[in-house]
Amino acid sequence: METKIAEIAEGIFRLSTFVPDIAPPAGFTFNQFLVLADEPLLFHTGLGKMFGLTHKALSRIIPPERLRWISFGHFEADECGALNECLAVAPQAQAAQGQTGCTVSLNDMAHRSPRELKNGEIIDLGRGKRVRYIDTPHTPHGWDAGVIFEESTGTLLCGDLFTQLGNGAALTEGDIVGPAIASEDLFSYSCLNPSMGTIIRGLAELSPRTLALMHGPSFTGDGAAALHALADDYDRRISQRGSPVAIASAA
Ligand SMILES: [Fe+2]
Ligand SMILES: [Fe+2]
Repeated sequence: METKIAEIAEGIFRLSTFVPDIAPPAGFTFNQFLVLADEPLLFHTGLGKMFGLTHKALSRIIPPERLRWISFGHFEADECGALNECLAVAPQAQAAQGQTGCTVSLNDMAHRSPRELKNGEIIDLGRGKRVRYIDTPHTPHGWDAGVIFEESTGTLLCGDLFTQLGNGAALTEGDIVGPAIASEDLFSYSCLNPSMGTIIRGLAELSPRTLALMHGPSFTGDGAAALHALADDYDRRISQRGSPVAIASAA
């Protein structure tokens, strides 16, 4: 396996590792994003067992010991399995995650104390880069779920939202909603929490110009339209699932 690097927005680098053995024959990508600034931020660490690849790829952009912030969508191995490995190589680095994530996982699991971010809190990374943390509980999964929006480039680091199979281009203007619907049909990875549509429409209000997918290509174009279409599809799924009362009375 190798990790490919692409700059998907000014100063934001996608580190992409394709694993053909997951969901063959299409395969599956794992992407981390480096926001280059005075205080560099890595969004997702990747799996612990992939840290060698991530470290090597990071080294081609900056000395990994320069990392200052490590953030991610929620507490799962692909999102943060290499968190402590990152903390070990970067003495100034600190995890930065929402209050729920810190309370339920990171205060215990991280080898150094995390920075606890309130919903909407901004970290000024320097060199014009500012990232805003946004709580998205149970969207697409995980009580502690959240995303990060980089304001200067209009880039939404949207984690597992829009997950898709395959190993396409690093950056696309094509459809990302259809492939996301197909992968939801295949994996059923989302909670189908009744608030999902509302939460995703809230992200559309940011009018992102780039959507940085953890599993799939990055998208450039009308991010709000893509988010609205995804929200509509989750509303459809949730309404088709029926209410717990209806299911109970039908049983
Ligand atoms: Fe996940
Ligand atoms: Fe993921």
